Amino acid sequence: MKRAKSEWAGALLVCAKCSKKLGGGFGPKGRERLAKALRREPGFGKGRKAVVGVVEVKCLGLCPKDAVTVVDTRRPGEWLVVPAGSNVTELATRFP
Ligand code: FES
Repeated sequence: MKRAKSEWAGALLVCAKCSKKLGGGFGPKGRERLAKALRREPGFGKGRKAVVGVVEVKCLGLCPKDAVTVVDTRRPGEWLVVPAGSNVTELATRFP
């Protein structure tokens, strides 16, 4: 099996379906998807050079109203329900 090195210290799994239901829900106009907004924060991204990978995944089965389900792979026992319109910069500080 081949291996590829990555800088990721962890990853955030962001429910794509929650984001779709909100029509985005984040950013200045409330139209941006949470994953995209998070990837703009320093250290976050989808490439291997990011410190925290941000990956959109299918429905996680929690399906909150007006919010997005997020799983931090470093703390898989506690899922986060991020309300639409939350401050993404502030949210990013929870995942050093
Ligand atoms: S729609 Fe996001 S957890 Fe089900």
